[in-house]
Order: sequence, then structure tokens, then C-alpha cells
Amino acid sequence: MQQLKLLKQLYQLKSFGYDYFDEPRSVERVADAQHTALPNTLEALREYTLSCHLCGLSKTRKHVVFGEGNPHAKLMFVGEGPGEMEDNTGRPFVGRAGQLLTKIIENVLELRREDVYIANIVKCRPPGNRVPTPEEANTCKPYLLKQIEIISPQIIVSLGSTSYRYLTGEMHTPISRVRGEVIDFGKYKLVPTFHPSYLLRNPSAKRDVYQDMLKVKAML
Ligand code: URA
Repeated sequence: MQQLKLLKQLYQLKSFGYDYFDEPRSVERVADAQHTALPNTLEALREYTLSCHLCGLSKTRKHVVFGEGNPHAKLMFVGEGPGEMEDNTGRPFVGRAGQLLTKIIENVLELRREDVYIANIVKCRPPGNRVPTPEEANTCKPYLLKQIEIISPQIIVSLGSTSYRYLTGEMHTPISRVRGEVIDFGKYKLVPTFHPSYLLRNPSAKRDVYQDMLKVKAML
């Protein structure tokens, strides 16, 4: 309770323009402290995020896209951020890229979409589908980290370079170098792969994602 109060005060200071993100290390420390103080159930965390106004994306969003799926999923996908359809509906990955992701889940992993959990780096749509800024991503990150902690999946698949970069903090690693690797990410295994939107533009990369998903399937 005390921590929640403190967190609220910090958020208020931030909304007045105080910047407590000084340099990358302290961003991680602040993100850690914030995520420790957040609610410990998915439902309460979802409620909490619905009234978030900590970054500029809250001004233009229609819906907060919290994420959805099995709260006990062994497998979690993390995309970049909601697009237009997701913003309109409040659900992640429901547009064209989402339909492809759903096919991959069903046809390659042989799971149902509702068996996995799907979330994004940021929960509100960046206008024009631009890449979230570091400030937007870092402001939203405590929510995602808490979500991951509550769900406690065995494997996290990051979709695309933005997801991989903001999750790991490795801002300069090309996705093509790490895709398909199994990386230790705290208690979890992280498997980066290409984003479904990239596959829509480059269908020949589907073969790589197919291989990555077979690897994930074998680990489950
Ligand atoms: N792209 C993403 O990264 N996330 C979504 O939810 C939809 C499209």
C-alpha cells in the first residue's frame, strides 16, 4: 500500500515534468522499483493500466491494449505496440499481422490462440504506427514486466527488433543476428523471431519463423 502511494506520487511528479529517467542504468532501477509496487493480479494490473496517463500515447489512444490469453500460459508473445485495429478493439494482434500470428500459433505450434498470452511493449497505439520512443517504452515497461512475472511463462517469444531491443535493453542488436536463439532472460527463456508484419512484407522469411517456432514447440 505504502509503495503504491509512493508510486502514485512519483507518477504525479512525472506528469508535472520531473524526469527521473537520467541514464540507462537508473531507468532499469526505476522500472524495477515500479514493477515491484504494481498490483499482483492480472485483473488488478489491467484495471490499473486502463487509467494510465504517464506518456503521450494516452492522449491519442482509443483503448489501452492490455494483452490477452491464458493467465497461466507457458508461452507468451510480445509484439511492439497496438495498431489501428487493436486500438479500436482493445485487443492485441487482431489486424492482418495478428491473423498471421494466429495461424502460426494454430498451424505450427498446434495450440489455440487462447492457450498462449499475447502482449506488447507499449499498451497504447503510437500514432501512425510509428516505433515507440524509448521514453514511451520505458514508461510502459514496468506493466509488461509485472505481467510477465504474474503469468510466469516458460518461454517469451519477442516479435521483431523493437520488442527484442526494449525487452533486453540491447538497442543495437539486429534481429537477424539473434532470431531463433534461446536466450536466458531472468527466469525465462527468450526466443526472438521476426514480427508477423515483416513476414507480410517478406514472405520468404516465413521459413525462418517456422524453424524458430518448431524450436519453441520442442521446448514446451
Ligand atoms: N503489431 C504489434 O506489434 N502488436 C499488435 O498488437 C498488433 C500489431
